[in-house]
Amino acid sequence: MIKITAAITAVGKYVPDHVLTNEMLEKMVETNDEWIVSRTGIKERRILKEPGKGTSFLAIKAAENLIAKTKLDPKNIELVIVATATQDMQAASTAAFVASQIGATEAFAFDLDSACSSFLYGMSAAARYIESGKYKKVLLIGADMCSSMIDYTDRVTCIIFGDGAGAVLFEPNTEGLGLQDEYLRTDGNGREFLKVAAGGSLSRPSIETVNNRQHFIRQEGRTVFKFAVSNMADASEKILKRNNLTNEDVTWLAPHQANKRIIEATANRMNLDMNKVMMNIHKYGNTTSATLPLLISDYEDQLKKGDTIIFAAFGGGFSWGAIYLKWAYNQQ
Ligand code: UT7
Repeated sequence: MIKITAAITAVGKYVPDHVLTNEMLEKMVETNDEWIVSRTGIKERRILKEPGKGTSFLAIKAAENLIAKTKLDPKNIELVIVATATQDMQAASTAAFVASQIGATEAFAFDLDSACSSFLYGMSAAARYIESGKYKKVLLIGADMCSSMIDYTDRVTCIIFGDGAGAVLFEPNTEGLGLQDEYLRTDGNGREFLKVAAGGSLSRPSIETVNNRQHFIRQEGRTVFKFAVSNMADASEKILKRNNLTNEDVTWLAPHQANKRIIEATANRMNLDMNKVMMNIHKYGNTTSATLPLLISDYEDQLKKGDTIIFAAFGGGFSWGAIYLKWAYNQQ
């Protein structure tokens, strides 16, 4: 029997036009370009400024970019997954709206949220639908309007996050390409260290929660950093070991873009040269669910059929993991 694997066959991206530079942040909070660059690697990020637009706007644009590049008929898409931590609304899924807007009228759609690991987990979910043999076209979009949950008086978070979206199409492959293996984990003890405290069922919105600024994201940076370094590196090392891969076999590492120092520590543990590490944190910052698809969009023209790519992420929850994927096409 022929084995069906789930391969990425197309990518698309979108980032808003407005650029928020370190120099602009210097005027908003007590910080400076030198500190931000040396501690995070970030120079600038993109912000969705237009009123009345949310995460769905970013997701739709990224999906439309993919559709335009591939001439894909959106009616042939069977499932749309929007990986996001910043849904348009608490009820009514962002994915349902996105699917309708892009013309995927024959699809079902849902949101998937596990903070910065949302896209990584989304890859796992998308792959299962394809591997089942029942679905042939699954659109996975990673989109986050992080600026919607940022307190621009909090220098610990406002320097890190940006807005953006990336989309990938998963299709069946019978050449053994696509998703090979995954190592995914969560630890709920981490939720105190990175969270938006109010607005959900646990702490309903009230004048008090607004006055206490509890609808913004807060993180205990040092703790999150420590867990991110050890868990992302650990997951990446484990996925190599159990697939008998050495650093020589890895063509690319595609790591979540939260902090350049976390990325370097992960590459170091894998004994990987930095020229094999995809990086765009300097221009987008941490776009949460969008970091991984934005990376493969930006590197698409360098990827070759058969390349071994290790995806790795760490985020709130805590949630983390690594995915081993073989790239399935050469760009036309
Ligand atoms: O994607 C989801 C997961 N998120 C992450 O992975 C983020 C992980 N954490 C980090 O990336 C880092 O912890 C940060 C970038 C958030 C902070 O960097 P750090 O090297 O861990 O700094 P720190 O929190 O240990 O703070 C060092 C100093 C402190 O001053 P004192 O107490 O030593 O006097 C901070 O108050 O730097 C100060 N500081 C700043 N200074 C200038 C904190 N933020 C800033 C800032 N500008 N923006």
